[in-house]
Amino acid sequence: MKLKNSYFYTIRENVKDEDSNSGNLLVRAGMVKKSSSGVYMYMPLGLKILQNIQNIIREEMNRTDAQEVLMPSLIPEEVYEASGRRKGFGNSMFSLRDRFNKPFVLGPTHEELFAVAAGMKIRSYKDLPFNIYQFQNKFRDEPRPRFGLIRVREFIMKDAYSFDADEQGLHESYMKMFNAYKASFDRMHIKYTIVKADTGIMGGLLSEEFQALSPIGEDTLVICDNCHYSCNLEIAKCPEKGETQNEAYQQIQAIHTPHVGTIADVADYLQLPHDQFVKTLIYMIDDQPVACLVRGNRDVNEVKLQKLFKATKIELADLATVEKVTNAKVGFAGPVGITIPVIMDNEIRGMRNFIVGANKTDYHFINTNLHDFTPTKIADIRLIQENDVCSECGHPIHFEKGIEIGNTFKLGTKYSKAMNLAYLDQNNQLQDVWMGSYGIGPGRCMAALAEQSYDEKGLIWPLDIAPFKVCIVVININDELQLKTGNSLYDSLNKMGIETILDDRDERAGVKFNDMDLIGIPIRITIGKALADQQVEIKERQSAETVKIPLANCLAYIQQLIG
Ligand SMILES: Nc1ncnc2c1ncn2[C@@H]1O[C@H](COP(=O)(O)OP(=O)(O)O)[C@@H](O)[C@H]1O
Ligand SMILES: [Mg+2]
Ligand SMILES: [Zn+2]
Repeated sequence: MKLKNSYFYTIRENVKDEDSNSGNLLVRAGMVKKSSSGVYMYMPLGLKILQNIQNIIREEMNRTDAQEVLMPSLIPEEVYEASGRRKGFGNSMFSLRDRFNKPFVLGPTHEELFAVAAGMKIRSYKDLPFNIYQFQNKFRDEPRPRFGLIRVREFIMKDAYSFDADEQGLHESYMKMFNAYKASFDRMHIKYTIVKADTGIMGGLLSEEFQALSPIGEDTLVICDNCHYSCNLEIAKCPEKGETQNEAYQQIQAIHTPHVGTIADVADYLQLPHDQFVKTLIYMIDDQPVACLVRGNRDVNEVKLQKLFKATKIELADLATVEKVTNAKVGFAGPVGITIPVIMDNEIRGMRNFIVGANKTDYHFINTNLHDFTPTKIADIRLIQENDVCSECGHPIHFEKGIEIGNTFKLGTKYSKAMNLAYLDQNNQLQDVWMGSYGIGPGRCMAALAEQSYDEKGLIWPLDIAPFKVCIVVININDELQLKTGNSLYDSLNKMGIETILDDRDERAGVKFNDMDLIGIPIRITIGKALADQQVEIKERQSAETVKIPLANCLAYIQQLIG
């Protein structure tokens, strides 16, 4: 690309409507531009980066013999009714109507249509296995679009789907995808880790997430360095046994705690530590009220709770419900005498003489013990905390923050059952097809790379991702020899298959250097005064040094840098 007559621009100042470094830098580099909340335009350089990422993924997919297809975005709503997922997606689905008033949605993920597509081929066990994939726009009306390309409402996803005769086959297909994902992210030079995760709205047997490590990541990853247990905070198991307290049982006693609603207030008032309290939270689980107990310094893990009940909906009860089920103002809920089901976190088993709300306004019970109430269920329902011990090996765990860039699912037979996707086995019996589904967001990968690699001057792309590998800066375009040399290097590099930018704009050298640093081109060739001595200067983006080399060696030198 020669800059002089190109659609190329940069922005000098930080932009106002971006809330992340990657978003800010990508917009300033003229690579993307927000067009509305969570919706972006890709400009030439941004599109090249996206395509480089997509090409890596496509190569790795094709290497596994997966075949590319393209599904529509516009899908009759009934397709998601058939699989039972319409309700689960709720408001996050964009829905619209055609001229005959028939309801449609813009697809947020495509298990259903791929099951239909697979049905075109599958008759008998001889038709399995296979894997089909696409790069296609997904639409999700995210409640909180943010962080530039990281959480958007319209984005390209590479989604692949595998079809097998049985669980063993699914496992093999899954591992192929899993390895292709690792190879793809390795080639992108993303720093990532792989964690087990909740299967969520996808359902199924297994979900693993590829998480790019970044402080702005919205996922918390729980990692044990000792046994390599790693999972998303959502599903992190807590040890069966917590601390065991041994003091003598005291008699339960109601005490007056006027005008103190929160645990912090009551703890101050009674001069007792937070962790001697048991919190009672009233949840609506599939619209039924349930009292959930966790130790005072803990939080409820809603994903675990939802799983425990196999529920589709879970939310904190509203004030009116809390007051109704406790017969008290909010802040005084407790397990003693309450008439709704009580789910107790297993850590509480080790506690003695704890404090709970008394289901009476302005009263708490002190010296509560397990013989004072009967939990309906005792289970692990708390969020693990940093420095808790690993449930597998007892070593303290630590947290990392991650941006989910890829997700692989063993779906099992959920969709094939719902969508009647079956095959005839060797005994002529109808059997369900076993499915897997696998997604990567190339735009999110681009943003994650930008988050992981930048400095005060701008973006720093790995060679295989950069929109151009080399830029040639001609310092004085009015110097005929400089311009001619620039053009001739440009032609040679392009002939060698090395995509190059020629900065032939009539701008000051400083402006050109700043622009090339901002957009993050890995190698810069400067053609300036040294040309009089038959020399050019080479600078790599991530190094501070500039080296002078003879013009005659320039191409060989670049070739060797690129490898
Ligand atoms: N809102 C979004 N914006 C950008 N990329 C997304 C978004 N949602 C998902 N992706 C990308 O698509 C991949 C597969 O998505 P999926 O696992 O179905 O989504 P989620 O984990 O949000 O339910 C994710 O790993 C991510 O790379
Ligand atoms: Mg996911
Ligand atoms: Zn461990």
